[in-house]
Amino acid sequence: PRILVLHGPNLNLLGTREPEIYGYTTLDDINTMIAARAAEAGIETAFYQSNHEGDLVDAIQQANHKFDFIIFNAAAFTHYSIAIRDAIAAIDVPVIEVHLSNIHQREEFRHTSVLAPVAMGQICGLGVESYLAALEAIIYKLNRAE
Ligand code: DQA
Repeated sequence: PRILVLHGPNLNLLGTREPEIYGYTTLDDINTMIAARAAEAGIETAFYQSNHEGDLVDAIQQANHKFDFIIFNAAAFTHYSIAIRDAIAAIDVPVIEVHLSNIHQREEFRHTSVLAPVAMGQICGLGVESYLAALEAIIYKLNRAE
């Protein structure tokens, strides 16, 4: 099995960006943790980060038929990108939406995810473990599908 881990805008700055909200873990650290746990479970991983909406749309389109699952932190695009929502709806690969912070606890404008209705599920507020919890769910699902 193969999974794609997608990261949206400003997540390249993790580690130094508002650490009181997002923690001190860098994006490379997160990717390394995911890759290690996935490898243990026999899952191949690919990683991509972009600050650009269209690049993320391209990455989602290109992932179709190539991956079993996508773990996606769309960052700010979560709250308003209909283009990204439509790209997710257009592909057959299930997408698990993740956020480091609890978006429901923060500013009003973060409470809405335009992606959630087309995502398989949403995990937020657990810090780095949001990504790892998504991965554990995928491992369970893949094992049950065997
Ligand atoms: C985020 C939450 C978003 O509201 C914000 O724009 C981000 C990161 C998170 O992981 O907590 O950039 O997706």
